[in-house]
Amino acid sequence: MARRYDYTSKDVQDVYDGPGGLLWEAVMGEQIHSGGPEATDRLAQALGLKPGLQVLDVCSALGAPARHLAQKYGVKVTGLDFTRTMLEKARERTKAAGLEHMITFVEGNALDMPFKANTFDVIWGQEAWCYVTDKELLARECYRVLKPGGKIGFTDWVVTGDIEEGLLAKLYESMAFPYMETFKGWQEVLQRAGFKILDAQDQTKEFARCFDEYKVMVEEKLKPAILENFGKDLFDFAVGLVNMWRDAAHAHKVGRGFYIGEK
Ligand SMILES: C[S@@+](CC[C@H](N)C(=O)[O-])C[C@H]1O[C@@H](n2cnc3c(N)ncnc32)[C@H](O)[C@@H]1O
Repeated sequence: MARRYDYTSKDVQDVYDGPGGLLWEAVMGEQIHSGGPEATDRLAQALGLKPGLQVLDVCSALGAPARHLAQKYGVKVTGLDFTRTMLEKARERTKAAGLEHMITFVEGNALDMPFKANTFDVIWGQEAWCYVTDKELLARECYRVLKPGGKIGFTDWVVTGDIEEGLLAKLYESMAFPYMETFKGWQEVLQRAGFKILDAQDQTKEFARCFDEYKVMVEEKLKPAILENFGKDLFDFAVGLVNMWRDAAHAHKVGRGFYIGEK
């Protein structure tokens, strides 16, 4: 089992309640994951989303993927997140987009979901479950609230190659990650929870290319705004973080896993 680091729910909430959330939005866009709306479409198409399905977005942040899915695929989305600032912004933006009848945001922990068994047709997640302190329990909760025959589809930051423990500790520290699953480890966790794996892709090359863009964003395009709004310490931190993750991704040590499963 992967070694776990001492980052708690509170550490993650502090990131997304504070400048971290704003910074991630500035760098990655309102959909806070690598690959933007195209990555969302790829997952949506792999899951066969169609109008009327009930989707649970686990760790929904600003709700931009939820709005994309509701608008483009006609699904009803419930977004679950435990960070107040993210929930407030998600609700405001969803109201402004006129999508309140399609999307609801619920405050809660992914490890103890406030939903009854067999509620959703689809469980959805994008690049957030790396923050969750117990992936086994998370997978069991996803399985519990999913209807029989329903599908799970998610992407996550994962370990994709050999990596020194010292580097891994620095990567986790930069993000407040308790641990990441390995690319293969996530498949085993899903199977132990009861899921049948339908697809698993190592998308590390594309993940690394996204970090090439984030490097330019942070070091050049956003530099004046970051310095003005957040100061030099946060700017230096962001530059260090982006370069460290970019190098590790190009060396195929860490990357993005893409998974589709069925209950
Ligand atoms: C990178 S953002 C998610 C991005 C979002 N999926 C998207 O694609 O736009 C991470 C989010 O996960 C939430 N989060 C992390 N751990 C959580 C948990 N155990 N329960 C609920 N939300 C959690 C954080 O509050 C934060 O809003």
